[in-house]
Amino acid sequence: MIPEHFIQELLNRVDIVDVIDAAVPLKKAGANHVACCPFHNEKSPSFTVSASKQFYHCFGCGAHGTAIGFLMEYQGLTFVEAIEDLAKRVGVKVPQEERNTPQPERPAPSMYEVMQQAAVYYRAELKKSQTAITYLKGRGLSGEIAARFHMGYAPEGWQNLRDVFPQYEQETLSTLGLTIKNDEGRVYDRFRERVMFPIHDQRGNVIGFGGRVMGNKDGGGDKNDGPKYLNSPETPLFQKGQELYGLFLARQAIRAANKVVVVEGYMDVVALAQHGVEYAVATLGTATTPQHITKLMRQTDHIIFCFDGDAAGKKAAWRAAMNALPALNDGLKLSFLFLPSEHDPDSYVREFGREQFELELASAMPLSAYIVQELSVRNELDSHEGRARFLDDAKPILQQLQAPKLNLMLRKRVAELSGVTQAEVESLLKLQAPSNQAKAQAKVPRRAPTTLTRKLLQLLLIQPELALQLDAERLPNNNTEFEALVRIMRLVATDRLIRPAAIVENLKGVVAPQLLADLTGELLHWENEKFEDEEFDIAEEFAGLLSQLQAAESKQNMSTLLAKPFAALTAEEKEALRSYRQAPVSENK
Ligand code: UTP
Ligand code: MN
Repeated sequence: MIPEHFIQELLNRVDIVDVIDAAVPLKKAGANHVACCPFHNEKSPSFTVSASKQFYHCFGCGAHGTAIGFLMEYQGLTFVEAIEDLAKRVGVKVPQEERNTPQPERPAPSMYEVMQQAAVYYRAELKKSQTAITYLKGRGLSGEIAARFHMGYAPEGWQNLRDVFPQYEQETLSTLGLTIKNDEGRVYDRFRERVMFPIHDQRGNVIGFGGRVMGNKDGGGDKNDGPKYLNSPETPLFQKGQELYGLFLARQAIRAANKVVVVEGYMDVVALAQHGVEYAVATLGTATTPQHITKLMRQTDHIIFCFDGDAAGKKAAWRAAMNALPALNDGLKLSFLFLPSEHDPDSYVREFGREQFELELASAMPLSAYIVQELSVRNELDSHEGRARFLDDAKPILQQLQAPKLNLMLRKRVAELSGVTQAEVESLLKLQAPSNQAKAQAKVPRRAPTTLTRKLLQLLLIQPELALQLDAERLPNNNTEFEALVRIMRLVATDRLIRPAAIVENLKGVVAPQLLADLTGELLHWENEKFEDEEFDIAEEFAGLLSQLQAAESKQNMSTLLAKPFAALTAEEKEALRSYRQAPVSENK
């Protein structure tokens, strides 16, 4: 364990501009530095680094973070490795936290810690359950592989997690999807009698679980034990469209093999690893998203989709191809492998072994061939009408495909198959040059309107010590920003000089990733505008916000009072109402 304060000190000492500039040369632009984003393909720079805030944000793809996050994402380091790297740069040693030194009032366990504790519990239960062990052995898995994937077992029973979490009713457990509260308010474990697959983020934190019923169940079936696989719901830590099962464990193998295989199921990943194919990851019961592709592109430039041979698998492959289009660049190779229809990767590798599976991978179909094949299966090319529909179907695909060379080759092939010239295809489809399309897409719609608490958060990220003026009791606590505000107040109370980057690092896993991404993005936008403006005074802005918040609060209180019959009011409440009427607070937006 690296002590929290060390991480903060480290972020106070390093300069993110130096760290990033060494890898991606930056140019000064106004208050910030910019470059073409290293995390997605772009021609004009939307990757912005703030020296004053010590974090980066890309307005094109949304990548964002601190110096630590940058090293993790860009160099593929783990959290600890990134800290060590930074420490070396500034010439300090990373201290290790003694587990048994008394901690000054230990804060409530973070969401990550809660998930970790649950995973440890499930793992221990697997060792105790002969039925679960027999089930996994029956599926061809060794103890080693089960251990490598940190597999576990959620035993029978409704409140087993009570032993792990004495405060079983606490909201965190249900927020994280470990427990469920029914209509009568009774709380019970979500996962019962299931083999557990923990899902890790790229740092190796447990962020979710998938649980499989034991037995040979396929789809639907018995209502009593629910679906075959039960997954964690979307939580502040877990977004299915972002995460890939197995990526954390597969990272080294992916880099070594310089390819990644994307499969559909947890079992496929584990079974492939059992047979020595360690570079597989799975989507989590969702379609492959552009974020998935972007994430994988950072690890390798060859992605092979290997979905089940059934109709659902074919559909999933097509969706993956379509979702990949906007994220593609010419350096990236996408291929598609279709197994015989009775197989999935798990059953295939068990029956035919690694070598055969890898031969299949080597002969997987490249994206453009796959697209053309699929379109010509859908439209018969031996009639004029069929060829016309073929062109219609190709149009949106060509329009979305940004990679210039890939696009060119596909245009040529489409022209050839539909019996027209390439120029005719282009004018027929009114294709713009890909770079113009990119510009047209770059204009992202502005975010949701900013609330008062949101503005407050932004100001605190600029000047954290303003948090000392806040009173948690007086903040509206009915929104997602509240938790972030309180967290910042606590951080500033222990370290007045904490820098914005340390705060951002701290908020990770505490607040929804989207909120953090939006905040850093809004902030850099806003900062560029406001700081050009000499008149802008943060303290004044902050004071203004506070009084607006108070006005909103008293207005809220008043409407509660006004809703009561006059006779039911206490003397105090009557007095409050009277003075409010005498000095009405100005209207708020
Ligand atoms: P499959 O039904 O193809 O199962 O679901 P599988 O991977 O072959 O699993 P085994 O071999 O029967 O154990 C593929 C993926 O779809 C999601 C899971 O992520 C699963 O790994 N899924 C499936 C669910 O989320 N819920 C379900 O009920 C079924
Ligand atoms: Mn299967």
